[in-house]
Amino acid sequence: RTIPEVEALLKKMTIEEKIGQLNLVTPGGGIATGSVVSSNVEEKIKAGQVGGLFGISGPEKIKTAQDFAVKKTRLGIPLLFGSDIIHGYKTTFPIPLGLASSWDMELMKRTAQIAALEATADGINWNFSPMVDISRDPRWGRISEGAGEDPYLGSQIAKAMVTGYQGDDLMAKNTMLATVKHFALYGAAEAGRDYNSVDMSRLKMFNEYLPPYKAAIDTGVGSVMSSFNDIDGIPASGNKWLLTDLLRDDWEFNGFVVSDYTSVNEMIAHGLGDLQAVSALSLKAGLDMDMVGEGFLTTLKKSLEEGKVTEEEITTACRRILEAKFNLGLFDDPYKYIDKKRPAKDILKDENRALAREAAKKSFVLLKNGPKNLPLQKNATIALIGDLANSKDNMLGTWAPTGDPQLSVSILQGFKNVAPNAIISHAKGANITDDPALAKKINVFGERVTIDKRSAEVMLAEAVALAKEADVVVAVVGEATEFTGESSSRADISIPQSQKKLIRALAATGKPLVLVLMSGRPLVLEEELALPASILQVWFPGVEAGNAIADVVFGDYNPSGKLTATWPRNVGQIPIYHSIKNTGRPQPTAEFEKFKSNYLDAPNTPLLPFGYGLSYTEFEYSNLKVTTAQINQNEPLTVTVSVKNTGDFDGEEVVQLYLKDVVRSITQPVKQLKGFKKVMLKKGETKQVTLTLTPEDLKFYNSNLEFVAEPGDFEIYVGTNSEATLTAKFSLN
Ligand code: IFM
Repeated sequence: RTIPEVEALLKKMTIEEKIGQLNLVTPGGGIATGSVVSSNVEEKIKAGQVGGLFGISGPEKIKTAQDFAVKKTRLGIPLLFGSDIIHGYKTTFPIPLGLASSWDMELMKRTAQIAALEATADGINWNFSPMVDISRDPRWGRISEGAGEDPYLGSQIAKAMVTGYQGDDLMAKNTMLATVKHFALYGAAEAGRDYNSVDMSRLKMFNEYLPPYKAAIDTGVGSVMSSFNDIDGIPASGNKWLLTDLLRDDWEFNGFVVSDYTSVNEMIAHGLGDLQAVSALSLKAGLDMDMVGEGFLTTLKKSLEEGKVTEEEITTACRRILEAKFNLGLFDDPYKYIDKKRPAKDILKDENRALAREAAKKSFVLLKNGPKNLPLQKNATIALIGDLANSKDNMLGTWAPTGDPQLSVSILQGFKNVAPNAIISHAKGANITDDPALAKKINVFGERVTIDKRSAEVMLAEAVALAKEADVVVAVVGEATEFTGESSSRADISIPQSQKKLIRALAATGKPLVLVLMSGRPLVLEEELALPASILQVWFPGVEAGNAIADVVFGDYNPSGKLTATWPRNVGQIPIYHSIKNTGRPQPTAEFEKFKSNYLDAPNTPLLPFGYGLSYTEFEYSNLKVTTAQINQNEPLTVTVSVKNTGDFDGEEVVQLYLKDVVRSITQPVKQLKGFKKVMLKKGETKQVTLTLTPEDLKFYNSNLEFVAEPGDFEIYVGTNSEATLTAKFSLN
């Protein structure tokens, strides 16, 4: 499949012009995540040395840059304008790990549509999202940017996000090209340290880590970003097996591949040669566009002259980039996203903010409802404690460079908006952290952590005094923005000590206690979970943070989120996830047994399992049935279960289906998520919920990497989280 217009253009292009298309630059000014930004951007565009630009926005700036390309270069080839729109453009939605906790695909798709509407209104046509890296290591700071640990859920989310960004018509003015990233396996960095090596068997890759990338590609994503890590000893940006054999030959991807920020150059530090060598290696591997590092721009012509790359390889990469531009309609109208009226019309509209509020409240996970402290009365006397409680700086979360923290609703403000008759007092109680060295590292993109001049004792005493006067204490505690995100891995994933002391002091008052917990990762929370308190996990909720938290805290919305990554009891249990293998020596009970697979000093079980999340009401599951006990290959299976709302509130429940293949030719997970449905139940209502297992759901990659379903017995488990025990059986012929 070739595009005649693109072929005609390629015929006119010099080798320098083709190489120019492979160069992606950023002038800086936004977030620079590497040690360099591009220099002389204007001159380079005019010289035909740039194919795309990122880090600028707004119709005027983008028009100026597009003019340089269209009016000042020989062939007038328009630029791509990229951006990292990870969880909303100006209307910032919850961080992706939070959005994923909604288990609501339609909602997620709508957030992506609004992100595309707003970004294109500001001239952007290419998004560096969705990030679909599976992560089973909460030390890794970028776990916040993905959907968590599960390949099935991750694949559904990948589809929803790509569909939301790209729509069904890339030529439209309100859709943009999406990028699935970071290809591949970036979330499996050893020890949870960002940019670290990855070493993984093919079986694990194919069965557990690659499915979400493939789902994005099957949905038609336009571009792929290669990751920083190595795979089988070769960095992703220069890995031919990954970028050509798998991505193009097996998966039939026909868009273009962009490197991550200077990831081609970083292959020098990986030890693969000098800039010319690693640039040639990358091009030959199947990388099409070089982000910021300019290895392609400065060395490919020399490599061509020396016979180290071919003209055909350069032309192929250029063709893929031109095709993307063609598919976006940029050759028909390079200025199609430039409309000065659109920003005011499309960005931060009331309905966009309303969606941000809806998404935020659906992302919250009720971890515990102690002595049913929640929901609160709207006329209560409340001590609202915590540095995060009256802050706008930390509501958006990581990777929200296009958002403005000052437009966000603080929690204190949200409480006042939703419960105007409540009597609310506020004190900080403690710094987010008392460690100035940590605060400095967190504050690179703006002041998220300030260290109060007052002593810790004075701050604590002030908070305790307010708590003693109140009916209920709400403490907003946890991480600041940039405790997670790129280059924000932690070796200790508990609440910082300063705030732990505050929580202990507030609990000691004996007042009903609610913890509103902010974090971009699963936390080690054993001490806090043991308190007779309620704990609402709110991640980083986005621009409508305070309003959404108040909606849930005061009972206008009943929480329905479920964890998409397992919460460990301690860091020693990591990696921890629900779809573990049985081993040959499984631990038979919760008790330690010598010569079984367990720890001397900790249980095997997580603190909170995958899929976990409470509601203000309760749900009872019964009557699990499969339509037939025997199915043939390539036949679907229908599963039904009755779910009853037995509590006192209307509420939504995420009904989850897990599958176990009893005997297989390879070792297998004890159970795997293979279906879910979010249902609304009025109090007292019972619904029969139907889930369908497709033939694909029974398949796995065997030792020959064939995707097969093996005949035999299967067990299914249906329930409220991954520890579901209601079970049924069927067999596959
Ligand atoms: O898209 C990002 C990527 O996720 C991390 N490195 C920088 C890129 C561009 O900003």
